[in-house]
Amino acid sequence: MQITFLSVSVATFLLAIPCYGDGCVSGINHKAMPSPEPDMRECKLYSQSSCCFSNYTEQLAVSPVIKVYNTYWNRCGQLSSRCEEYMKKIDCFYHCSPHAFNWINPNNSYSLLAAPICQSFCDDWFAACRNDLTCVRNWISDWEWDDHGNNCRNECIPYHQMYKNGKDLCNNMWGATFNVTSYPCHCLMMDNDDGDMIQQMILSRGTPAPGEMHTELAQVPFCQRRLKNLNERQGAKKEQKGTQ
Ligand SMILES: *[C@@H]1O[C@H](CO)[C@@H](O)[C@H](O)[C@H]1NC(C)=O
Ligand SMILES: *[C@@H]1O[C@H](CO)[C@@H](O)[C@H](O)[C@H]1NC(C)=O
Ligand SMILES: *[C@@H]1O[C@H](CO)[C@@H](O)[C@H](O)[C@H]1NC(C)=O
Repeated sequence: MQITFLSVSVATFLLAIPCYGDGCVSGINHKAMPSPEPDMRECKLYSQSSCCFSNYTEQLAVSPVIKVYNTYWNRCGQLSSRCEEYMKKIDCFYHCSPHAFNWINPNNSYSLLAAPICQSFCDDWFAACRNDLTCVRNWISDWEWDDHGNNCRNECIPYHQMYKNGKDLCNNMWGATFNVTSYPCHCLMMDNDDGDMIQQMILSRGTPAPGEMHTELAQVPFCQRRLKNLNERQGAKKEQKGTQ
């Protein structure tokens, strides 16, 4: 009797969480449901539960990347390898991550909406691509498409002219896909800790006082790692300023 009651309340709890769960975004390169892909060549972060088939990642497992599916990455020349790494991380997230589904756009199952991305990730991305060239501010809407794929409409300019900073880059390069978040334990870093971060987000849904939630969250190992990294970054920045 008690066991039945428990399983009923667990089921009710799960049903009460909208959106969060297993699934994949719609798309020609997406599976219906995530499953293991032990032979991935790239995007290995998601090999235990992947929304892309391993063969999708072959085109990403080279450098320089010329074209991914139907999109040229080199319309303004080859990307630097540092910048290319970030392009790959974002492409892997969209195509292969089983987490992306949590932010599926309710009006368009092919796209994501306001996935929380960490400020520090965006700052590093901007720094990596700073002097690379690009001709589009929004990779979803600003290309001119023809039979050969995507073409520039405007001249190529450095990332640091196209975007003000990391936040501007993250909030605009992929349309409404990402929303920059400064609290480090509530956002995607495209690393191994993202799974734990999402688990915590699910658990803390409905917590009345966000302040309390933060205190508890700060005890969770992944969050401690992120806070420590952030402190070290800030320390390093101060030191740099001090020696200038
Ligand atoms: C990739 O692999 C999947 C599953 O094995 C297959 O259905 C698909 O056609 C393959 N795609 C390409 C481009 O080879
Ligand atoms: C989705 O579509 C509805 C109806 O057209 C609109 O009111 C709503 O703002 C849209 N939501 C998003 C996130 O675009
Ligand atoms: C983006 O994140 C901020 C907090 O970091 C939040 O207030 C805002 O509602 C979010 N925007 C969207 C479109 O979800």
